[in-house]
Formats: sequence, structure tokens, C-alpha cells
Amino acid sequence: MPYELIPGLEGVPIAESAISFVDGQNGILEYRGIRIEELADHSTFEETAYLLLKGVLPNPEELDSFKYDLTHHRRLKYKIIDLIKCLPEHGHPMDALQAAVAALGMFYPAKDVTNEEENYLSCVRLIAKLPTVIAAFERLRIGDDHLLPRDDLGYAANFLYMLTGEVPNPVSTKALDVCLILHGDHTMNASTFSGRVTGSTLADPYTVISSAVGTLTGPLHGGANERVLQMLREIGSVENVQSYIEGKLDSKERIMGFGHRVYKTKDPRATILQHMAAELIEVHGPTELYDIAVKVDEIVTERLGPKGIYANVDFYSGIVYDQLSIPQDAFTPIFAIARVAGWLAHWLEQLIGNRIFRPTQIYTGQHNVPYLPIEQRD
Ligand code: ACO
Repeated sequence: MPYELIPGLEGVPIAESAISFVDGQNGILEYRGIRIEELADHSTFEETAYLLLKGVLPNPEELDSFKYDLTHHRRLKYKIIDLIKCLPEHGHPMDALQAAVAALGMFYPAKDVTNEEENYLSCVRLIAKLPTVIAAFERLRIGDDHLLPRDDLGYAANFLYMLTGEVPNPVSTKALDVCLILHGDHTMNASTFSGRVTGSTLADPYTVISSAVGTLTGPLHGGANERVLQMLREIGSVENVQSYIEGKLDSKERIMGFGHRVYKTKDPRATILQHMAAELIEVHGPTELYDIAVKVDEIVTERLGPKGIYANVDFYSGIVYDQLSIPQDAFTPIFAIARVAGWLAHWLEQLIGNRIFRPTQIYTGQHNVPYLPIEQRD
């Protein structure tokens, strides 16, 4: 039977999923049926991670117990720290993360993926330890000692503390917490698919997450927010925005942080992040980068809005991270420490009624080619 090739599997469902939902026409994103705006306003990353994993919001005892588990699994074994120390300081933190996640799987073997208790512990360990890995790599590469996690701080505040050495103010803590909530899951994207493919072989969860981290590394997936910040710096001032954008559009170049395969209106996450950036600026003082961004948003929306191209999640997240003193190459790792909750939720969902992924191909090669002895080849 002839097959039709669908490049990139665009529009081909590869699973039934009850984890997240996107309505790209109306700019709606829901986790387990709850609108992202509600979660950003009222939830925390810990609670949202529970929701993604378990399918329902926790009651107070469940939340306390989950937070306790997340807090008490943050530390890394000294051998993992030694491994991070051995990595080249000029290497990308995403590669360090992938290597450390794969190594964690050797310390916490979780080969029996039918064991629900073991699976829960693996989820907790992964969500708890990823920020510690990123912060340790950052501090060690600049020549500082890594900092031990602080049990008195929540997930977001502890990460910022481990990264910068300073306990963040409540606005910064809330801003990072919201960023983590917003990046928790986003239906069937490349890294989630890759994690599900690996999970479908019944590989252990550390291998699943290291596959997903590797997939997120590519510039077509993670990473656009780094380039947004570069662009805003390149523009330099609000007065330059009009000519810069027009120049780019006239030469058919893409404006980073705009456009989305699914959203044909403003990404709801971009709207929330814009408010977050504005709040941070009120506390930390004005920055021209934000004014430039608002002007870019206005001009690009005017020019490309009629084609369904609006700001996406990456447009304002770089400004938020910059305000939080997060180095530019740690932007994608932050995406990963949030998305690990979604990846794990998809892994658990994949295990229910699992069938190993085994797609097909359309062979375009030759048949019956004779083997030519080496001395007869040109
Ligand atoms: N700037 C200028 N024009 C754009 C942009 C943009 N950012 N995005 C799309 N277009 C134009 C294309 O040039 C094309 O124009 P044409 O019809 O005249 O040829 C039209 O819109 C459709 O573009 P496609 O590439 O077919 O749209 P698609 O849905 O495949 O692309 C994508 C989505 C890849 C995100 C694209 O909008 C893009 O490259 N954006 C910039 C990079 C970016 O911000 N990536 C982050 C996405 S969010 C995330 O991954 C977390």
C-alpha cells in the first residue's frame, strides 16, 4: 500500500493526551483543563507540576508532601558535582544538563517502569535536581563554588539563590515561578515527542529526559529567546526600531519572537510575560530594552498581525530572565527545568497502554546492486 509522506508529521496525531490543550485561533492554553492565566495568577510551579503529573490539583496535604519531596531531593551526589566540574566551561549548559541527567540514571537505576512508587520517585528526583545541575554548572564554570540548595526556599527562589548567591526579592521569585509555570507543557512538540518515543521502548525515565533535553537543544526548538535579546540589543534605542524592523521585513528576514505554528493570535504566554517584565522593571528600575521590545511588538503586530503573526512566548521571556540576572545561555536550560514536568507527565501517559513507536518509511534507494570488489571501484 503506498504511503503519503507528511514532512515533520505536521498535523498527524501521535497520541491521545489529556495533559495540555492549545486553541491557536483564540490564544488559549490549558493544563489539565485549567487556563494558563489562572495558573499564572494563583498557582506555583510545584503545584502546577503536580497537576501535570497527576491530572488534578493537590489538596493541602498532598501539596505539602510533594513540596517536601521536591525540597529533599535537590542535592546532587558529590560524584555528579565532580562530573560537572570535569565538563568544559565553554560548553553549553544544555549539553551539561543532558550529560548530568544521563549520569543520574546510573545512580538511581529505575529500570522497572511498571513500579509506580519508583516512577514517582524518579519524577521527584528529576524535577528537584535539574535546577541544581544548571546552577552548579554556571557557578563552577565562572570559577565560584557551587552552592548547596536551601531547604527554606521554594523551588524558584532556591534556583535563583543557587545561581546568583543572593536570595531573590518576592517579585523576582514570582516572575521566575510564572515563567516555569508557562513553560511546563505545550502539547505535542519535538522534545515531548522524542521523550515519548524513548519512553515507548520502556527505557528508564532518566534516559527519557536526557533524550528530551537533547531534542530541546536544537535552535529550531529552544533558543529563540536568546536571539530576541540579541536583536533588542542590536536595535539599541527606541528611535531605531522602525527602521530596523522595516529593513528586516523588506529583506524578508524573520523577526525573532514572532510567529507560531499553532497560535495565529498573540501567544497567551507572551501577554503574561509582558506584564511580568513590566512588574520587574518597576522594582529594578527602567531599562531601554523593555521600551524597545514594546515598540517592536507594536510595529511587528501592525505589519504582520493581519497574516496571523504575533509575539510568541520567547519574545518577552528573554527580558524577564535578563532582569533576573540569568546568563543568556541559561535561557534554554530554564525552559528544560520547567518542561521536565510536562515531559514526565507525557512519559507516564505513554506507559499506559504503551505501544513502541515504529513508524515506516518510503524507500527511495536501489535494489539488487551487485557487490563490487574494492579493486574494481573508482
Ligand atoms: N517574522 C517575519 N515573518 C514571519 C515570521 C517572523 N517571525 N514568522 C513567519 N513569518 C512569515 C514567513 O516569512 C511566511 O511568509 P510568506 O507567506 O510571505 O512566505 C509566513 O509568515 C508563514 O511562515 P511559516 O514559516 O510557514 O510559518 P510557520 O508556522 O511554519 O513558522 C515559526 C512558525 C517557525 C515559529 C516562525 O514564525 C518563525 O521562524 N519565527 C521566528 C522564530 C521564533 O520566534 N521561534 C520561536 C517559536 S515559539 C517556540 O518554539 C517555543
